[in-house]
Amino acid sequence: MNRLHDGKTLTLAVSKGRILDEALPLLARIGVRPLQDPARSRKLILDTSRPELRLVIIRAQDVPTYVEHGAAEAGIAGRDVLMEYESGELYEPLDLGIARCRLVVAGRDHAPAARPRVATKYPNVTRAYYAARGEQPEIIKLYGSMELAPLAGLADRIVDLVDTGRTLRENGLVEIATIADISARLIVNKAAMKVKHAAVRRLIAQLRGAVRPRARD
Ligand code: ATP
Ligand code: PRP
Repeated sequence: MNRLHDGKTLTLAVSKGRILDEALPLLARIGVRPLQDPARSRKLILDTSRPELRLVIIRAQDVPTYVEHGAAEAGIAGRDVLMEYESGELYEPLDLGIARCRLVVAGRDHAPAARPRVATKYPNVTRAYYAARGEQPEIIKLYGSMELAPLAGLADRIVDLVDTGRTLRENGLVEIATIADISARLIVNKAAMKVKHAAVRRLIAQLRGAVRPRARD
């Protein structure tokens, strides 16, 4: 039987890297522990201490795709990735409060550019941000190390994530504007929300109970 129609079992897709590292303690608080150590195992599907729940560990940008197509009933992905994915087909019931950072515009200085060249991993978000300001930048799609682009003369601006600010600082860049506060979110497939109502509701309720309230600044 297709897992989506068996009523009880859930597959949770989790971004590998930073989000997985922060999601594992959260999952442990609801009694979900992978049976293999994700840091050592090369397995992509991990059974957990809860037989009805398995994890698939994938790249951040692939999490919404798996969940939208029902290959995973639920997922954990950064708000940055979800904003860029632009799907109306996913429920986003819970802010998990992990992997917090900000999506910002940065550059070498604040000097305005007539038609800025903006390097980013987030072309859709960047286009929408500038369009809301009546600007049409030239967008240069990159896959990593955005901070290099202004230094190498590839772009005037970058749109990238900032947490401590260290990467910007060490590359002589300054923050120009904040586009969005980012954290990892629980997302759920719309069909699974109906077909596996009880299992999905239980997962949401348990995770909601496990999310730590934000520490006061
Ligand atoms: P990939 O290599 O697959 O493109 P990535 O390098 O974006 O992935 P990570 O750096 O682990 O992978 O980022 C995954 C998610 O973690 C991001 O989508 C974002 O939500 C969050 N994140 C990224 N950088 C930071 C940061 N410096 N501080 C806090 N959270 C971050
Ligand atoms: C992320 C992001 C910034 C950096 C910001 O990169 O793309 O480069 O973190 O964090 P900071 O403000 O604390 O310095 P990451 O370390 O994930 O490397 P990546 O380029 O491989 O995504």
